[in-house]
Amino acid sequence: MDYAIETAPLEKLQCDCLIVGVYQDRKLSESAKAINNSTQGLVDKIVNRGDLSGKIGETVLINAIPDSPVERILLVGLGENKPLSSKNFRKALLAAVNSLKKPQIKSTVCCLGECDVIAADWQWKTRQIIEVFNDAAYQFIQLKSNKETESRLEKLSIIAPEAELGLAQTGLEQGKAIAEGINLTKLLADLPGNICTPTYLAEQAFELSKKYDKLGVTVLEESDMEKLGMGAFLSVSRGSRQPAKLITLDYQGGEKNGRPIVLIGKGLTFDAGGISLKQAPGMDEMKYDMCGGATVLGTLLAAAQMQLPLNIIGLIPSSENMPDGDANKPGDILTSMSGKTIEVLNTDAEGRLLLCDTLTYAERYNPDVVIDMATLTGACLVALGRVPSGLLGNDDALCNALLAASETANDSLWRLPLWEEYQEQLKSNFADLANVGGKDAGTITAACFLSQFAENYHWAHLDIAGTAWRTGQTKGATGRPVPLLTQYLINRAHG
Ligand code: BES
Ligand code: MN
Ligand code: ZN
Repeated sequence: MDYAIETAPLEKLQCDCLIVGVYQDRKLSESAKAINNSTQGLVDKIVNRGDLSGKIGETVLINAIPDSPVERILLVGLGENKPLSSKNFRKALLAAVNSLKKPQIKSTVCCLGECDVIAADWQWKTRQIIEVFNDAAYQFIQLKSNKETESRLEKLSIIAPEAELGLAQTGLEQGKAIAEGINLTKLLADLPGNICTPTYLAEQAFELSKKYDKLGVTVLEESDMEKLGMGAFLSVSRGSRQPAKLITLDYQGGEKNGRPIVLIGKGLTFDAGGISLKQAPGMDEMKYDMCGGATVLGTLLAAAQMQLPLNIIGLIPSSENMPDGDANKPGDILTSMSGKTIEVLNTDAEGRLLLCDTLTYAERYNPDVVIDMATLTGACLVALGRVPSGLLGNDDALCNALLAASETANDSLWRLPLWEEYQEQLKSNFADLANVGGKDAGTITAACFLSQFAENYHWAHLDIAGTAWRTGQTKGATGRPVPLLTQYLINRAHG
């Protein structure tokens, strides 16, 4: 989809649909007034008839406008005539997008940026408009015979006042970059496990590096990892016929020797559970167990596209977790790259086995901070549902910066405690630690496990098991937490 900023007066614009806001009590927004005036009071007529009460998210499509270069007008309810909360702003945008899906609307002009939103400037508003439209336009049709899409939208113009052009333009560039990153993450996530293998992910990383000068990619093969002593990681991939990969991306946008931000993403292209086999219902969704890895790729795409003045390392440990004669068995004891020994009490707690060696490997970059994201525990769904991602970490400043970014980005997070008391649950009679901590506090004990490999730097962990994809009728990847991470990077670049 094409996105652009437009400053021309509304009367002069030609488009398939003009989107304007209407507040409660029949109060028209500025652009609604303007189009009302140039259509002999058409909007007033609809509103006075009582067809639109102005509640947030309500819409009316006027689909025949006599003698106008504007083919249709979409009225969108904005609630009370006062500054909107960021959530309500998005609600109004979402309602607008959803009402544009059926008719054959190819180009649209959005005037909703003019509404006042609490603590938001034109940069933020422009970015949000693009993100919401982009999200709605995404459809996974690659593997269907009928490639017809629900939405035919090709062009979105965002109306901005002359005086705010600079901010709107920056918002446009950021929004486009983030949208592209989100689309890549969603596409990789939605691809099935028989196509999106560790090898495929590595190829996609190479493709990405070809597009951006400052982005380099190296892939460590199993033999390389063997030399590094990654016994925990390799114990998982031994049970799979697909060779494992440790994909490393290197984005050099900052000073030559500046310490990098390291992003690590769990890249299980399918998690059957191994010998501790999962149940059949819903197991297809374990193709999404690489969403952390896909988030790293999407976030680096966005960062490279925005040319952020930062050094960023992306690490994606990728494998399958399958039952096999050579797979991990409950009771097996592994030696991790750090030297710590691990008793495998449940082969389905595999993510942490890949991540612990990757966390150790990250030390060689002398990182400023390390952030990992992983679809790590079903327990996170029990604790937090599908609304926020779980956040745990060993550094308050980093956690607070992530929380602040999550608010701005509308990509929520909730911090859970990482108290020492929980470490007790990981004690093993036979090894330095066990890979599971029993049924209590599963998200926290998983993070406790990781924390033992992240002692030498500032580290945060995002459990995205509930937020990376939707289940049920609308099953599909969400692209989260790309918005949150890109916001964190934008904040770091400007801070
Ligand atoms: N990838 C899963 C976690 C998961 C499960 C995410 C369901 C989203 C939905 C992870 O590898 C796993 O299997 N975790 C186990 C850990 C347990 C054995 C301690 C789990 O959550 O059941
Ligand atoms: Mn598992
Ligand atoms: Zn898993």
